[in-house]
Amino acid sequence: MDHPVKKDTLLTHVARDPARYEGMVNTPVFRTSTVIFPDLETYEARGGDDYKKVRYGLYGTPTTFALEEAIATMEGGHAAVVVPSGLAAIAAPLAAFLKAGDHLLMVDTAYGPTRTFCDRHLKPNGVEIEYYDPAIGAGIERLIRNNTRAVYCETPGSLTFEMQDIPAIAAAAHARNLPVLADTTWGTPYFFRPFDHGIDISIHAGTKYINGHSDVLMGAIVTNERYWKTVRKTVAEYGYCVSPDDCYLALRGFRTIGVRMKHQMASALKVARWIQARPEVKRVIYPALEGDAGHALWKRDFEGAASLFSFVLSEPKTAAAAAFINALELFGIGSSWGGFESLAIIARLEGCRTATVWNPGAPMIRLHIGLEDPDDLIADLERGFDKLRNAA
Ligand SMILES: Cc1ncc(COP(=O)(O)O)c(C=O)c1O
Repeated sequence: MDHPVKKDTLLTHVARDPARYEGMVNTPVFRTSTVIFPDLETYEARGGDDYKKVRYGLYGTPTTFALEEAIATMEGGHAAVVVPSGLAAIAAPLAAFLKAGDHLLMVDTAYGPTRTFCDRHLKPNGVEIEYYDPAIGAGIERLIRNNTRAVYCETPGSLTFEMQDIPAIAAAAHARNLPVLADTTWGTPYFFRPFDHGIDISIHAGTKYINGHSDVLMGAIVTNERYWKTVRKTVAEYGYCVSPDDCYLALRGFRTIGVRMKHQMASALKVARWIQARPEVKRVIYPALEGDAGHALWKRDFEGAASLFSFVLSEPKTAAAAAFINALELFGIGSSWGGFESLAIIARLEGCRTATVWNPGAPMIRLHIGLEDPDDLIADLERGFDKLRNAA
């Protein structure tokens, strides 16, 4: 497009090329492993650092490239690469930047399996992992050593939703020439522009809102120009690739992320405010709520909120929390989030915090709010609270 447009228009028009595909609105599914070249000279010139042309199925097809272009454009990054899961999108860039003898600053509130990857794979290979308090802000400067090679953030944090002051952290990291990696799954490319705030490598579980329909596992890594080749080459060297069918589904889902996010955020706020007023609840943790500890940072840096939040019960018995969840009829009990359906789990943090203390004194429940009518979800939660009171 030659002139600037608003983000919903961009989302509708980005990464489409009907003239190239006989007028088809969507880039079709291209299934291939082998790509045939017209002559040996062209075949032998296929390599290099440019992963944007078709050369072998492993390195992408036009279907893959359309999805990658859409995600990178919406987020304002230089380029994106998709990988088989959100966890792969975390592991590959960490592996790209770290080797034996290096030091990594990792946020204490990172997604649990991110910690597991650090502790069980990076650490035994000689990388020193230092977990830091998500509230550190500019104070991260004091933790940077001569052998620090990367700063990793996740904002808001997993399960407990602490917001991070990304511009302050990025300023300190950049002063020492370090890349800032961040899991930005919650913010989504629709509600958060990581590169405007100093993030160099933006990591997504595309499994969540990008695909949005609970039927694809995928990760996406978006980088600025400086770090693109390092990250893209590492993904290629690990042999990660995503099937064109899944790329097609994810781009189909991504086209509607705007309407889904706006609708789900409005419902989540309605449900969260209702929960806040319940006597059975000690505290709701959702940066989009006025009064949340991270609200000011969220308001400053984000254009909206995911429909994922937690709340701490007043009743300390886990059996009462279990009775609450088991009574729900509309909320599914299961991992993941970002799909069209609502979900509820008890958020368990055992072993997931080492630099900070998390001790709310009662169970915490994490809800994902889907596309159902929020009034029906509230009625469902009411049934849960009835059972909770009986079990207390
Ligand atoms: C914040 C966050 N990052 C990454 C992931 C990993 O995504 P995937 O399940 O696609 O590996 C998850 C999954 O729950 C997550 O919550």
